[in-house]
Amino acid sequence: MVRVACVAQALFAATGLHAQQPDQKLDTKNLFRNVCGFCHEDYGRKQGKGPQLMNNPNTDEFLANRIKKGSPQKGMASFSWLTDEQIREVVAFIRRLKPEIEPE
Ligand code: HEC
Repeated sequence: MVRVACVAQALFAATGLHAQQPDQKLDTKNLFRNVCGFCHEDYGRKQGKGPQLMNNPNTDEFLANRIKKGSPQKGMASFSWLTDEQIREVVAFIRRLKPEIEPE
């Protein structure tokens, strides 16, 4: 989906995330606020253009795979520029989400 890719690229450009080094620790909250939150609202605690991620019933492996490969037919870009370690951090962030607590 070309349009989604453009939006994602514009967002990376706006946040400077494209400049991240692979071994740099990922600011997951910032990533969610600026990139993922465009579709996964409220840090993934609410459904938006994408599904709610809090209390997701799928396995960590499934979530990691979606983040890495995306879901082009359904409008999720692939985030293949994240390292496996960074994707694990993102999944851990999703697992920590609670309805009333601002995520860290
Ligand atoms: C342009 C909109 C968009 C952006 C930006 C986006 N997503 Fe998604 N995401 C989606 C959509 C739509 C789905 C549902 C795809 C499907 O059902 O196949 C999805 C699905 C997912 C899933 C799988 C959930 C499930 O149970 O099926 C995860 C995990 C996820 N996104 C994480 C992220 C993360 C982390 C980011 C930021 C790095 C992100 N997404 C950015 C739209 C987006």
